[in-house]
Amino acid sequence: MLFSNIKDGDTFRYLVNGKWEKSSSKDLIEVYNPSNGKILAKLQSLSKSDIDDVLKNSKISQKKWKNTPVNERADILMRAADLIVQNSELLSDLLSKEISKPKHLGMHEVMRTADLIRSTAEEGLKLHGEYLDGNSFYHASKKKKALVDREPLGIILAICPFNYPVNLSFSKVAPALISGNSVVLKPSTQGALSVLHVSELFIQAGLPPGVLNVVTGKSSSIGDYLCSHKDVNMIAFTGSTSVGKHIASIAGMKPLMMELGGKDGAIVLDDTDIDLAVKECVQGVYSYSGQRCTAVKRIILVDKIANVFVKKFVEETKKIKTGNPDEDVVVSHLINRDAADFVKSLIDDAVKNKAKLLLEGKRKDNLFSPVILDNVTNKCRIFYEEQFGPVAVIIRVKDDKEAVNVLNDSNYGLQASIFTNNLDKAFSIASQLEVGAVQINGKSDRGPDNFPFPCIKDSGIGVQGIKYSIESMTRLKSVVLNFK
Ligand code: G3H
Repeated sequence: MLFSNIKDGDTFRYLVNGKWEKSSSKDLIEVYNPSNGKILAKLQSLSKSDIDDVLKNSKISQKKWKNTPVNERADILMRAADLIVQNSELLSDLLSKEISKPKHLGMHEVMRTADLIRSTAEEGLKLHGEYLDGNSFYHASKKKKALVDREPLGIILAICPFNYPVNLSFSKVAPALISGNSVVLKPSTQGALSVLHVSELFIQAGLPPGVLNVVTGKSSSIGDYLCSHKDVNMIAFTGSTSVGKHIASIAGMKPLMMELGGKDGAIVLDDTDIDLAVKECVQGVYSYSGQRCTAVKRIILVDKIANVFVKKFVEETKKIKTGNPDEDVVVSHLINRDAADFVKSLIDDAVKNKAKLLLEGKRKDNLFSPVILDNVTNKCRIFYEEQFGPVAVIIRVKDDKEAVNVLNDSNYGLQASIFTNNLDKAFSIASQLEVGAVQINGKSDRGPDNFPFPCIKDSGIGVQGIKYSIESMTRLKSVVLNFK
């Protein structure tokens, strides 16, 4: 399985029981290079019977893996992290080809993931149970004592999106593995090549066969089958809200950890450091062309500073470079033409509803240069809908109270930012925002990966983050001692 000399149109296999195999269906799916529209590679399109075999193998492998001492599991993760660093050039190159991620952002994703895997290994070593004495409860015998331990759930199904294939896959895989689960990983088709490559590195690091199986294929053929399969014990999913809701409706009693859409807002108050707020918002809106769930998707400005902010924001945005991901750019091609058409439809609708186009992005196929829409109101679809593209949405409000109301007027609840020099005000506003996390004087951001990443409303269920993911992927088990 060589990834170093990929030629356009090469065919890749899927990973089961430590081996690279062909699908029984003999069908293939195509991975495109979003920057030039050419076929980059072909992947196996698995059938339901392939999935049955994979899950059977994952189940057997997990039984052995959960009894492997945690320090041995941690050593394997550490070796995998080292191999990822050694392969970082190749991996960031793959990311630029298959998801059009600018080279420096791809490198950041890869190195961040190596760090995450190392920290997960260390965190796993700290995992311990507790001892409880039942004597403080009036109805309990004084002679009951409980030993409470953590056990793996079994098979974790990890389903990952195109925008952070490496990080959002292995931030699920690493906590699952360190706590003794086996994993069936289903990457997005766009992004699968880098995921397959990192999986191979785990095998080279000594991961036993079958503990990590990686399946590829059409969600329409195997997605529902996987999510509702009786042998899957938990689903960890990152993707759109509509798919997340569908998975929840068919998953039955399986625990879910889901990070879905977002419409993160940045509130800029009148006592803020405007240059800082502008810099953070520009990065927050445009980094990786806005294709991040935590991108700044609304900038909410109080009237008093709105004109000054907007002037500087336009100046800074004009400096942003747009182009091919192998050049030094911030904005590159959107993942496909449909995504670009959707962004265009939101812009057209906003303009029709009296938003002001301060910077009109140029479009060539699925490449958009930065767009700025000012005076966006709740009449525009983009006030509520997630753009997932390089479009700044500026909403003007009269005061802090209205800013809070606008921010909370959303089905999503991922993150929010508050820019102000008044910490009292920042904390007071933070307590009123219906989101999982609030950034004070910084753009919204999932990392660092040891922080909790809670998602509320339509933005998800559960909490990711190294320690929190390990907790979600294990269950408590008590053994109660009854004394005479
Ligand atoms: O797209 C969703 C990601 O979880 C966003 O992660 O904040 O590190 O860009 P990020």
